[in-house]
Amino acid sequence: MAASSSFLYCLLFVYISLFLSFTLAEDPTVSYKFELTYITASPLGVPQQVIAINGKFPGPTINSTTNNNVVVNVRNKLDENVLITWAGIQQKRSSWQDGVLGTNCPIPPKWNWTYNFQVKDQIGSYFYFPSLNFQRASGGFGSFIINPRSVIPTPFDNPAGDITVLIGDWYIRNHTDLRKTLDAGRSLGMPDGVLINGKGPFRYNDTLVPDGIDHEIINVEPGKTYRIRVSNVGVSTSLNFRIQNHNLLLAETEGSYTVQQNYTSLDIHVGQTYSFLITMDQNASSDYYVVASARFVNQSIWQKVTGVAILHYSNSKGKASGPLPDPPQDQYDNTFSMNQARSIRNKPPVTINGKRRATLSGVSFVNPTTPIRLADQYKVKGAYKLDFPTEPLTGPPRMETSVINGTYRGFMEVILQNNETKMHSYHIDGYAFFVVGMGYGEWTNDSRGTYNKWDGIARSTTQVYPGAWTAVLISLDNVGVWNLRTENLDSWYLGQETYIRIVNPEKNNKTELPMPDNALFCGALSRLQTYATRYIFCSSQIHWIFRLVRIGCDDDDGGQLI
Ligand SMILES: *[C@@H]1O[C@H](CO)[C@@H](O)[C@H](O)[C@H]1NC(C)=O
Ligand SMILES: *[C@@H]1O[C@H](CO)[C@@H](O)[C@H](O)[C@H]1NC(C)=O
Ligand SMILES: *[C@@H]1O[C@H](CO)[C@@H](O)[C@H](O)[C@H]1NC(C)=O
Ligand SMILES: *[C@@H]1O[C@H](CO)[C@@H](O)[C@H](O)[C@H]1NC(C)=O
Ligand SMILES: *[C@@H]1O[C@H](CO)[C@@H](O)[C@H](O)[C@H]1NC(C)=O
Ligand SMILES: *[C@@H]1O[C@H](CO)[C@@H](O)[C@H](O)[C@H]1NC(C)=O
Ligand SMILES: *[C@@H]1O[C@H](CO)[C@@H](O)[C@H](O)[C@H]1NC(C)=O
Ligand SMILES: *[C@@H]1O[C@H](CO)[C@@H](O)[C@H](O)[C@H]1NC(C)=O
Ligand SMILES: *[C@@H]1O[C@H](CO)[C@@H](O)[C@H](O)[C@H]1NC(C)=O
Ligand SMILES: *[C@@H]1O[C@H](CO)[C@@H](O)[C@H](O)[C@H]1NC(C)=O
Ligand SMILES: *[C@@H]1O[C@H](CO)[C@@H](O)[C@H](O)[C@H]1NC(C)=O
Repeated sequence: MAASSSFLYCLLFVYISLFLSFTLAEDPTVSYKFELTYITASPLGVPQQVIAINGKFPGPTINSTTNNNVVVNVRNKLDENVLITWAGIQQKRSSWQDGVLGTNCPIPPKWNWTYNFQVKDQIGSYFYFPSLNFQRASGGFGSFIINPRSVIPTPFDNPAGDITVLIGDWYIRNHTDLRKTLDAGRSLGMPDGVLINGKGPFRYNDTLVPDGIDHEIINVEPGKTYRIRVSNVGVSTSLNFRIQNHNLLLAETEGSYTVQQNYTSLDIHVGQTYSFLITMDQNASSDYYVVASARFVNQSIWQKVTGVAILHYSNSKGKASGPLPDPPQDQYDNTFSMNQARSIRNKPPVTINGKRRATLSGVSFVNPTTPIRLADQYKVKGAYKLDFPTEPLTGPPRMETSVINGTYRGFMEVILQNNETKMHSYHIDGYAFFVVGMGYGEWTNDSRGTYNKWDGIARSTTQVYPGAWTAVLISLDNVGVWNLRTENLDSWYLGQETYIRIVNPEKNNKTELPMPDNALFCGALSRLQTYATRYIFCSSQIHWIFRLVRIGCDDDDGGQLI
């Protein structure tokens, strides 16, 4: 049982209630029920516990349309706390729905909680995943699509099909084992493989791939064009994605249409999503390989960290064979040079108070016991500090709940400086930012001269090359508390994150939605859970809802009845 729950389950009883809808009645609702359980799967040929949603690994695709109210009831049947986060989906005005520990109390085991948010004009491809306890390394992820309304044109013809592909590095050890490794101050080491849609590699080489591994097959019709949405949901490996003999026409990334350009392969960093339009223009003399291989590593050592799926034309004349298509041979070179306005710098893990920790600008983030916005709402003092440094700390690193004070309607320039030897990707919840520049070495004021201010792409996850910087511009118009983190799960777990708190000085319910009635309480506010007996299931209909109500009580007093 997870230790973070500050009270026992003292008493459960069934509560029956009748509630009316609170969402905007005219916008349709899409509802999902997510039941998180452990199942046994053998993606790399070795049985292991993975996190399934509704018995499936990966989880179902959330398929929504602009303006939909998305309602997801998450039922936690794991043995530890859970939160689901919607990477890249800008929860407009409602960080209450964001599913990270700075904004939400966790959903305890045996408990269910309903997320309810409206997806706005962010047509594109995203994914969701469990944000706590390293769980993403055991699964619990799935695709999240926002479609345009039928009256809104897209910059390409309707594809013949819409295919989601989740790629990611994978360990045979489960997330609890991996956590133990990190807690013991060790690094995770090389992953055991790469999964494509939860499946191991096609046996393209008998020496490299053992027998009896189930692989993914993508079925297509000759001559047709498909939209393939690819997300890197892995732990920390950048992957090069390619399909043998097929061009990848890049069309969209995380809700922005891009200039359409053909690629033979594209690097997809952890946390990023791209959509490609792929025309099945080959002669189907055989099936084709779909490959996701580790990038920026020594290929001869990392050979088995390769995901291989099969693209199968309906008129295919045989199996794919022979070597995999080559990865790009280019090497990123170390040239340029660069100081700053708001430079955020990571460093290789350090030891603070005897613990191995990862930092951002010298601060290793400690999750608040009372989520930040909840603490604001209830005026809990000392839950966090608004003192995240503007410049990286020069003194010894610290472990703190240190948050960035964002100015509502201000602009923020964030320089992400990667002082490690491995690739990192960074993500900001609640926003799409503009990536305006990248360069090797240290960022300086002069680097601004190289910024691309005109057609920078708006996205929510950007890579930062080793020994290099990436500059992003953010227009702070979304009120709330938003997570800024590395997407590399190991560094994130060790504290490489912070939050940006953006508050409208003029309090109203227009720039930030009120706290949802079903908000969970924890930390300094645990006792309020006792009174959280109201449950709103938002839809356009009336529902009878049967619900277990958990009564909070002190650890030692045996409980109380309300
Ligand atoms: C993770 O694996 C260990 C064995 O390596 C096992 O004891 C443990 O039960 C597993 N945890 C989960 C949550 O499956
Ligand atoms: C999403 O739903 C629409 C209909 O609402 C359907 O046309 C489309 O194929 C679905 N997409 C996926 C990926 O399931
Ligand atoms: C399989 O991989 C091994 C190790 O890289 C290589 O030596 C061998 O030539 C490959 N076999 C084939 C049939 O390509
Ligand atoms: C991309 O490649 C396809 C063939 O695979 C070709 O038909 C198309 O014209 C190319 N598009 C661009 C923008 O280069
Ligand atoms: C099919 O295409 C491949 C590669 O593009 C080529 O080598 C092969 O000869 C073609 N086969 C036929 C039957 O046209
Ligand atoms: C990659 O690793 C192999 C085997 O350890 C080694 O021989 C080779 O020199 C390495 N290549 C590079 C470019 O470091
Ligand atoms: C945070 O920034 C606002 C202006 O955006 C300022 O008024 C306020 O004093 C700052 N708070 C702290 C604690 O620095
Ligand atoms: C970044 O790394 C380089 C080389 O490892 C080191 O010389 C430099 O001091 C580091 N900078 C910071 C700010 O840690
Ligand atoms: C960078 O510019 C800021 C003002 O924009 C200035 O305060 C700072 O001293 C400059 N830094 C360097 C290293 O020139
Ligand atoms: C915002 O909405 C909540 C509940 O819906 C209400 O209690 C509160 O008074 C509203 N606040 C403002 C400033 O309108
Ligand atoms: C949520 O929990 C309550 C009681 O625990 C249960 O009755 C209800 O069916 C659950 N809802 C879902 C969708 O699992």
